[in-house]
Amino acid sequence: MQLVETLPVRLSALKRKILDRSALIGVAGIGYVGLPLAVEKAKVGFTVVGYDRNPIRVDQINQGLNYIRDVNDRELADVVDAGRFSATTDFSTIGRCDVVIVCVPTPLTPNMDPDISYIRNVGEMVGQQLRPGQLVCLESTTYPGTTNEVLLPLLERSGLVVGEDFFVCFSPERVDPGNARYTTKNTNKVVGGVTPACLEAGMTLYQQTIMHVLPVSSPKVAELTKVFENTFRAVNIALVNEMAMLCDRLGIGIWEVVDAASTKPFGIMRFDPGPGVGGHCIPLDPFYLAWKAREYDFHVRFIELAGEINVGMPYFVRERVVRALNERGRAIKGAHVFVLGVAYKRDIDDFRESPAIKVMDLLLKDGARIDYHDPHVPSFTDRRGNAWHSIPLSKEGLERSDCVLILTDHTSVDYAKPLQWAPLVVDTRNATKTARQQLDGKARAGVVLL
Ligand SMILES: NC(=O)c1ccc[n+]([C@@H]2O[C@H](COP(=O)([O-])OP(=O)(O)OC[C@H]3O[C@@H](n4cnc5c(N)ncnc54)[C@H](O)[C@@H]3O)[C@@H](O)[C@H]2O)c1
Repeated sequence: MQLVETLPVRLSALKRKILDRSALIGVAGIGYVGLPLAVEKAKVGFTVVGYDRNPIRVDQINQGLNYIRDVNDRELADVVDAGRFSATTDFSTIGRCDVVIVCVPTPLTPNMDPDISYIRNVGEMVGQQLRPGQLVCLESTTYPGTTNEVLLPLLERSGLVVGEDFFVCFSPERVDPGNARYTTKNTNKVVGGVTPACLEAGMTLYQQTIMHVLPVSSPKVAELTKVFENTFRAVNIALVNEMAMLCDRLGIGIWEVVDAASTKPFGIMRFDPGPGVGGHCIPLDPFYLAWKAREYDFHVRFIELAGEINVGMPYFVRERVVRALNERGRAIKGAHVFVLGVAYKRDIDDFRESPAIKVMDLLLKDGARIDYHDPHVPSFTDRRGNAWHSIPLSKEGLERSDCVLILTDHTSVDYAKPLQWAPLVVDTRNATKTARQQLDGKARAGVVLL
């Protein structure tokens, strides 16, 4: 009887706060996912506090300074100036929040097992301060079962009852960095609640900032939905990459095949080959599922195979460069390779897990001398601790090189320059397509496509 009375009261009180924007929202982890989300919530009138371990990011936010490309500088500064968005490293106030959204990293351990220590860490801190009426939403990508098996027990240590005293959802983030068409606001969102009341609370929250919110029957379904989406990409990228390697043997141009196949109006979806996969999602997330599957004596063969092919692509690119130089009587040892693009994909500044960095590492080991240019990544430090700095795309630099290696197809780069000034261009993205047509055979460089 008591439950029947308290449930609607707590849920309706929370919903009311969400609907009238008086709910205080905490976002744990204000990176690529958490920051855009926090700004969207603040823009519609919520007061948002970003909780992050990184004091540099926290200071930047409090000064109204942006560090994520997909976030609009002005919009961020406006919500900070208006007092609706601030950040802190002090988690002792997280209990004040009516809603806590968790967007912390979910990397892999060196053995390729899920590292959910970040989720545990936040779960413990939130659990210690949990109070009736709070909603906790996990957005970090993870294996099916994490919300119920890992996060929930940490929150239940409070003695409070889920679905009655507090509410828990999983709602995967689908942000596509660099995608101007689909942003946080107009990308459909999936939500799974631990109980029906949890789902209702989560739906109410997300409907305030997202155009289409889709309820699913449990957090597990929402968790698997996200990992399935990323596995779909990983497998299809691997398929086209394998085709590229076969085309190389057959002496057929993969890009012509992909262009032609893409004209079919049904039954095919375009994926482009490249030097491998990067970022925080595609190279990692499928392994979360593979790990969970093993607990059920299930071997997810597509994931393992796709991983194997995609991880092998930097080695294939290295082989293409070595062969292309050899054909011109030049050894890789001592050759000057000018790398164009180190971000893991077009028009972004994220170089985490970037295959470009792996290719550079392989060529360095072969004795190549390497420079790079990336308009979005002015500098970075590789795994061996070497500091790298982007150099300008100058005529002298290109003329001095033995090979220009295009690893990322940023749209702001003028690809006519390497074609006109370098002796050899190895293009893993078909980035030079338009420039080749414009130069109409007048390029100095020999061009080798993936
Ligand atoms: N980047 C993407 O494109 C993308 C897309 C969809 C989903 N995801 C998923 O979202 C999650 C976050 O990814 P991201 O790219 O935003 O990572 P990120 O590294 O950009 O941001 C994570 C933030 O969490 C902070 N952090 C780490 N430990 C913390 C802790 N214990 N408490 C509070 N903050 C902590 C870090 O300092 C960092 O600022 C991951 O699970 C990722 O797989 C990422």
